[in-house]
Amino acid sequence: MIALLDQLPASGRAALLAARAAARPADPKLLRALEAIPELRSPHFDLDADAVRLGAAPDLDEAAHAGLMAHLKELLPWRKGPFSICGDLIDAEWRSNWKWDRIAPFLPPLKDALICDVGCNNGYTLFRLAAGQPRLVLGLEPHAPYRLQYEALARLIPPLPVLNEPAGFEALPAFPECFDLILCMGIHYHHDEPLSLLKLLHKALKPGGTLIFEGIGIEGEGTSAFFPEGPYARMKGCSFLPTRDCALAWMRRTRFRDATLIHWTRCTAEEQRSTEWMPFASFQDAMARDFSTTIEGNPAPHRFVLKAIK
Ligand SMILES: C[S@@+](CC[C@H](N)C(=O)[O-])C[C@H]1O[C@@H](n2cnc3c(N)ncnc32)[C@H](O)[C@@H]1O
Repeated sequence: MIALLDQLPASGRAALLAARAAARPADPKLLRALEAIPELRSPHFDLDADAVRLGAAPDLDEAAHAGLMAHLKELLPWRKGPFSICGDLIDAEWRSNWKWDRIAPFLPPLKDALICDVGCNNGYTLFRLAAGQPRLVLGLEPHAPYRLQYEALARLIPPLPVLNEPAGFEALPAFPECFDLILCMGIHYHHDEPLSLLKLLHKALKPGGTLIFEGIGIEGEGTSAFFPEGPYARMKGCSFLPTRDCALAWMRRTRFRDATLIHWTRCTAEEQRSTEWMPFASFQDAMARDFSTTIEGNPAPHRFVLKAIK
């Protein structure tokens, strides 16, 4: 752990240690579930699979396997996945492998890179990035239950060059010109000021570094953005949702170069849905019956992915 922190600048190390000290303690029920997960350290894993494979069936006898899956279920809801756990599937709400397939062809070389995944949730993308043998992948995730899911999964295989820390994008000023690659996916619409967020991301990249910026936009001409006053697709506090041109203009305004829209598609209930591992309301409950608008009557959400260079 110390050696991984040592890959970061002193200001970044100090910020992460302060964030750890300030982090709210996790729910004791969830901590008990985590403590019951065995430190399996299985040599059988495949981080580069659609369902990230952690362990294999012969690693555990039937009772231990059932116990492991039951404890993982206590960490519900699983938003990101899928994961293959000793041969059993965690079918999460999101098919995060679809998002990975969209970005993977556009990533710079990962080997020995210093990478930050802002808002990394349970680490699905941390595992996929770790397959590329980076120097370090730093995940920032303020929400303790998601970090506990990552910790539970990480116990199943040998240690990776990955940290998942209790901090948000607000910690980025402690990492000036630090990262070769930053992923900021599913974050901007939860933040009041998308340009301020992009400026923080720009400062934290090395010159020549790559940003993958993923989010929600709406169809439309010109550089407008939709601002939902109330909930949007049942999300509270949702802020500006740009058109394609608006999102590209944001990148140029914040001094990124070579900004390219690498993906634009309507959000679907095939990609985000309720499952046994996320048994609550999901995308289809947030949309009108014909999916033409959100349930509030607002323009339908589209996912975009932008790539840009500092
Ligand atoms: C919509 S999810 C996206 C997760 C992942 N990046 C992905 O694209 O699949 C947003 C994540 O950002 C986290 N988050 C919340 N506040 C944040 C902040 N201030 N900085 C970074 N992440 C934050 C949430 O807990 C959640 O895990």
